[in-house]
Amino acid sequence: WPALIAVLSLGYLLGSIPFGYVLTKMAGLGDVRSIGSGNIGATNVLRTGNKKLAAATLLLDALKATVAAVVAQLVFGENAGLLAGFAAFIGHLFPIWLGFKGGKGVATYIGMLLGVAPLMVLVFALAWLSVAFITRYSSLSALVATLAIPIVLWILGVEEAALITSAMTAITFWRHKANIERLIAGTESKIGKKG
Ligand code: G3P
Repeated sequence: WPALIAVLSLGYLLGSIPFGYVLTKMAGLGDVRSIGSGNIGATNVLRTGNKKLAAATLLLDALKATVAAVVAQLVFGENAGLLAGFAAFIGHLFPIWLGFKGGKGVATYIGMLLGVAPLMVLVFALAWLSVAFITRYSSLSALVATLAIPIVLWILGVEEAALITSAMTAITFWRHKANIERLIAGTESKIGKKG
Protein backbone atom coordinates (compact mmCIF):
# COMPACT_ATOMS: atom_id res chain seq x y z
CA TRP A 1 0.00 0.00 0.00
CA PRO A 2 2.63 2.63 0.88
CA ALA A 3 4.33 1.88 -2.47
CA LEU A 4 1.05 2.22 -4.36
CA ILE A 5 0.26 5.50 -2.62
CA ALA A 6 3.79 6.79 -3.39
CA VAL A 7 3.42 5.88 -7.07
CA LEU A 8 0.01 7.48 -7.42
CA SER A 9 1.03 10.63 -5.51
CA LEU A 10 4.20 11.10 -7.54
CA GLY A 11 2.25 10.74 -10.78
CA TYR A 12 -0.58 12.97 -9.68
CA LEU A 13 1.67 15.79 -8.43
CA LEU A 14 3.84 15.77 -11.55
CA GLY A 15 0.78 15.59 -13.80
CA SER A 16 -0.75 18.48 -11.89
CA ILE A 17 1.87 20.96 -13.11
CA PRO A 18 -0.05 23.00 -15.72
CA PHE A 19 2.79 23.83 -18.11
CA GLY A 20 0.56 25.54 -20.69
CA TYR A 21 -0.79 27.89 -18.04
CA VAL A 22 2.63 28.54 -16.45
CA LEU A 23 4.50 29.12 -19.73
CA THR A 24 1.84 31.43 -21.18
CA LYS A 25 1.85 33.47 -17.95
CA MET A 26 5.67 33.59 -17.92
CA ALA A 27 5.72 34.77 -21.54
CA GLY A 28 3.46 37.67 -20.58
CA LEU A 29 0.60 36.41 -22.75
CA GLY A 30 -1.97 36.38 -19.96
CA ASP A 31 -4.17 33.53 -18.80
CA VAL A 32 -4.46 30.84 -21.51
CA ARG A 33 -7.82 29.89 -20.01
CA SER A 34 -9.27 33.16 -21.23
CA ILE A 35 -8.47 32.55 -24.90
CA GLY A 36 -9.71 30.14 -27.59
CA SER A 37 -11.22 26.99 -26.15
CA GLY A 38 -10.15 27.99 -22.63
CA ASN A 39 -8.07 24.81 -22.38
CA ILE A 40 -4.57 24.76 -20.85
CA GLY A 41 -3.09 22.43 -23.48
CA ALA A 42 -0.67 22.95 -26.35
CA THR A 43 -3.42 23.31 -28.99
CA ASN A 44 -4.85 26.28 -27.15
CA VAL A 45 -1.43 27.76 -26.33
CA LEU A 46 -0.86 27.75 -30.11
CA ARG A 47 -3.85 30.12 -30.37
CA THR A 48 -1.68 32.78 -28.66
CA GLY A 49 0.30 32.68 -31.91
CA ASN A 50 3.47 31.51 -30.18
CA LYS A 51 4.50 28.20 -31.79
CA LYS A 52 7.54 27.66 -29.58
CA LEU A 53 5.46 28.04 -26.46
CA ALA A 54 2.93 25.54 -27.82
CA ALA A 55 5.71 23.07 -28.64
CA ALA A 56 7.22 23.52 -25.18
CA THR A 57 3.79 22.92 -23.61
CA LEU A 58 3.33 19.72 -25.61
CA LEU A 59 6.79 18.51 -24.69
CA LEU A 60 6.65 19.33 -20.98
CA ASP A 61 3.06 18.12 -20.50
CA ALA A 62 4.11 14.86 -22.15
CA LEU A 63 7.39 14.50 -20.28
CA LYS A 64 5.84 14.96 -16.84
CA ALA A 65 3.95 11.71 -17.42
CA THR A 66 7.01 10.02 -18.91
CA VAL A 67 9.10 10.92 -15.87
CA ALA A 68 6.39 9.70 -13.48
CA ALA A 69 6.04 6.42 -15.39
CA VAL A 70 9.77 5.75 -15.79
CA VAL A 71 10.63 6.53 -12.16
CA ALA A 72 7.77 4.37 -10.87
CA GLN A 73 8.75 1.57 -13.25
CA LEU A 74 12.38 1.65 -12.11
CA VAL A 75 11.51 1.68 -8.44
CA PHE A 76 8.43 -0.55 -8.29
CA GLY A 77 8.31 -2.51 -11.56
CA GLU A 78 6.40 -2.43 -14.83
CA ASN A 79 2.79 -2.09 -13.76
CA ALA A 80 3.74 0.76 -11.43
CA GLY A 81 4.75 2.70 -14.54
CA LEU A 82 1.27 2.31 -15.95
CA LEU A 83 -0.32 3.43 -12.69
CA ALA A 84 1.98 6.44 -12.28
CA GLY A 85 1.38 7.46 -15.89
CA PHE A 86 -2.35 7.15 -15.35
CA ALA A 87 -2.06 9.22 -12.16
CA ALA A 88 -0.15 11.92 -14.09
CA PHE A 89 -2.92 11.94 -16.70
CA ILE A 90 -5.50 12.41 -13.93
CA GLY A 91 -3.28 15.10 -12.36
CA HIS A 92 -3.28 17.02 -15.64
CA LEU A 93 -7.08 16.79 -15.86
CA PHE A 94 -7.66 17.72 -12.22
CA PRO A 95 -4.62 19.76 -11.12
CA ILE A 96 -4.43 20.68 -7.48
CA TRP A 97 -2.85 24.03 -8.49
CA LEU A 98 -5.78 25.19 -10.67
CA GLY A 99 -8.72 24.32 -8.47
CA PHE A 100 -8.89 20.85 -10.08
CA LYS A 101 -9.86 22.36 -13.45
CA GLY A 102 -7.26 21.15 -15.92
CA GLY A 103 -6.74 20.01 -19.48
CA LYS A 104 -7.87 17.23 -21.76
CA GLY A 105 -4.93 14.89 -21.28
CA VAL A 106 -3.70 14.30 -24.82
CA ALA A 107 -0.04 15.28 -24.32
CA THR A 108 0.04 13.49 -20.98
CA TYR A 109 -1.40 10.39 -22.66
CA ILE A 110 1.47 10.45 -25.21
CA GLY A 111 4.04 10.98 -22.43
CA MET A 112 2.71 8.02 -20.50
CA LEU A 113 2.99 5.84 -23.61
CA LEU A 114 6.55 7.04 -24.12
CA GLY A 115 7.38 5.83 -20.61
CA VAL A 116 5.67 2.43 -20.67
CA ALA A 117 5.28 1.43 -24.34
CA PRO A 118 7.41 3.70 -26.57
CA LEU A 119 6.41 1.97 -29.81
CA MET A 120 2.81 2.95 -29.14
CA VAL A 121 3.89 6.58 -29.54
CA LEU A 122 4.47 5.76 -33.20
CA VAL A 123 0.94 4.40 -33.52
CA PHE A 124 -0.36 7.53 -31.80
CA ALA A 125 1.72 9.87 -33.96
CA LEU A 126 0.76 8.12 -37.18
CA ALA A 127 -2.96 8.28 -36.37
CA TRP A 128 -2.77 11.87 -35.08
CA LEU A 129 -0.73 13.19 -38.01
CA SER A 130 -2.86 11.43 -40.63
CA VAL A 131 -6.10 12.87 -39.30
CA ALA A 132 -4.54 16.30 -38.68
CA PHE A 133 -3.09 16.34 -42.20
CA ILE A 134 -6.50 15.63 -43.71
CA THR A 135 -8.82 17.59 -41.40
CA ARG A 136 -6.66 20.17 -39.52
CA TYR A 137 -8.65 19.38 -36.36
CA SER A 138 -6.46 18.79 -33.28
CA SER A 139 -9.36 17.40 -31.27
CA LEU A 140 -10.46 14.88 -33.93
CA SER A 141 -6.85 13.79 -34.42
CA ALA A 142 -6.50 13.21 -30.69
CA LEU A 143 -9.78 11.29 -30.52
CA VAL A 144 -8.80 8.95 -33.35
CA ALA A 145 -5.27 8.47 -31.96
CA THR A 146 -6.43 7.75 -28.42
CA LEU A 147 -8.98 5.29 -29.80
CA ALA A 148 -6.30 3.47 -31.79
CA ILE A 149 -4.06 2.84 -28.77
CA PRO A 150 -6.24 0.48 -26.67
CA ILE A 151 -7.42 -1.27 -29.84
CA VAL A 152 -3.83 -2.04 -30.87
CA LEU A 153 -2.88 -3.04 -27.32
CA TRP A 154 -5.88 -5.41 -27.06
CA ILE A 155 -4.94 -6.94 -30.43
CA LEU A 156 -1.35 -7.38 -29.20
CA GLY A 157 -2.68 -8.96 -26.00
CA VAL A 158 -0.98 -6.51 -23.63
CA GLU A 159 -3.86 -6.65 -21.20
CA GLU A 160 -2.82 -4.33 -18.35
CA ALA A 161 -1.82 -1.52 -20.71
CA ALA A 162 -4.92 -2.11 -22.83
CA LEU A 163 -7.15 -1.85 -19.77
CA ILE A 164 -5.60 1.36 -18.46
CA THR A 165 -5.48 3.04 -21.87
CA SER A 166 -9.11 2.04 -22.50
CA ALA A 167 -10.04 3.98 -19.38
CA MET A 168 -7.83 6.89 -20.45
CA THR A 169 -9.41 6.96 -23.90
CA ALA A 170 -12.91 6.96 -22.43
CA ILE A 171 -11.91 9.86 -20.14
CA THR A 172 -10.30 11.70 -23.08
CA PHE A 173 -13.54 11.42 -25.06
CA TRP A 174 -15.52 12.71 -22.10
CA ARG A 175 -13.13 15.70 -21.76
CA HIS A 176 -13.60 16.45 -25.46
CA LYS A 177 -17.39 16.64 -25.15
CA ALA A 178 -17.50 20.30 -26.19
CA ASN A 179 -15.06 19.61 -29.06
CA ILE A 180 -17.20 16.70 -30.27
CA GLU A 181 -20.29 18.92 -30.22
CA ARG A 182 -18.42 21.58 -32.19
CA LEU A 183 -17.13 18.98 -34.67
CA ILE A 184 -20.69 17.78 -35.28
CA ALA A 185 -21.93 21.36 -35.61
CA GLY A 186 -19.05 22.19 -37.96
CA THR A 187 -17.81 24.98 -35.68
CA GLU A 188 -14.62 23.40 -34.27
CA SER A 189 -11.57 25.59 -34.87
CA LYS A 190 -8.72 24.22 -36.95
CA ILE A 191 -5.09 23.93 -35.83
CA GLY A 192 -3.46 27.31 -35.39
CA LYS A 193 -6.69 29.24 -35.90
CA LYS A 194 -7.83 31.55 -33.10
CA GLY A 195 -11.29 31.23 -31.55
O1 G3P B 1 -5.38 18.26 -26.89
C1 G3P B 1 -6.50 19.02 -26.79
C2 G3P B 1 -7.09 19.11 -28.15
O2 G3P B 1 -7.49 17.83 -28.54
C3 G3P B 1 -8.20 20.08 -28.23
O3 G3P B 1 -7.80 21.30 -27.69
O4 G3P B 1 -8.02 23.69 -27.21
O5 G3P B 1 -9.04 22.76 -29.28
O6 G3P B 1 -10.03 22.22 -27.07
P1 G3P B 1 -8.77 22.56 -27.80
